[in-house]
Amino acid sequence: MKGLFITFEGIEGCGKTTQAKLLAEELRIQDYKVLFTREPGGPRISEKIRDLLLNKEFTEMHRLTEIFLYMASRSQHTIEWILPALKKGIIVICDRYYDSTYAYQGAAREISYKDIDFINKIATGGLKPDITFVLDLPVEIGLSRVQKDVDPSKGIDRLESENINFHQKVREGFLELAKSEKERIIVLDGQDKVETIHYKIMSHISQMLKNRFKNKKMR
Ligand SMILES: Nc1ncnc2c1ncn2[C@@H]1O[C@H](COP(=O)(O)OP(=O)(O)O)[C@@H](O)[C@H]1O
Ligand SMILES: [Mg+2]
Repeated sequence: MKGLFITFEGIEGCGKTTQAKLLAEELRIQDYKVLFTREPGGPRISEKIRDLLLNKEFTEMHRLTEIFLYMASRSQHTIEWILPALKKGIIVICDRYYDSTYAYQGAAREISYKDIDFINKIATGGLKPDITFVLDLPVEIGLSRVQKDVDPSKGIDRLESENINFHQKVREGFLELAKSEKERIIVLDGQDKVETIHYKIMSHISQMLKNRFKNKKMR
């Protein structure tokens, strides 16, 4: 794959969207071609599935329905957007990807990692991020940030509405994943300043950028 696939993970309010956007802006300033996208979501079909997944009226959604909707969204996203971009040498920055499935549907909703591995491999075609940043912080702080930002006309979404215990399991799930894949998954302190986190992210990917793009005059 000619491009670079960078993902951001972590609990609600940890700063994923903030950092993913900052990184995309910085790399564009440096003349890299960047696709900034998110999960669930991306292409129009996946965005429709996102609406279903996040709709807080659907409290009856079963965890199996939920995981298959995530996988449906992911397969369309991977095939329609992510793989073609990577093949063209574009840097893909994705706000959540499959690690979230292990944390939310695995660690928190207790679907086995073996089952998730199986369906996830089908949905991604085996694609893995080159590097993943997990922004870690206490659940109470993340959720209070989300509350502060909430649009009163919409309220919080279906996943954000889960209880503290659920989000605690999600946080632990991400930390456990990071321990099992130390090369790929970098845990950063989500309570650091926005600029400090951004600087750390840039320093983690700088060598990767040099290696991947050294002969290609994208910049
Ligand atoms: N490092 C940080 N310190 C303090 N506040 C932050 C930090 N990063 C993000 N925020 C704020 O916290 C809120 C949630 O951030 P966001 O990037 O939307 O999180 P996520 O996408 O992980 O849910 C936003 O209001 C954002 O401005
Ligand atoms: Mg976000």
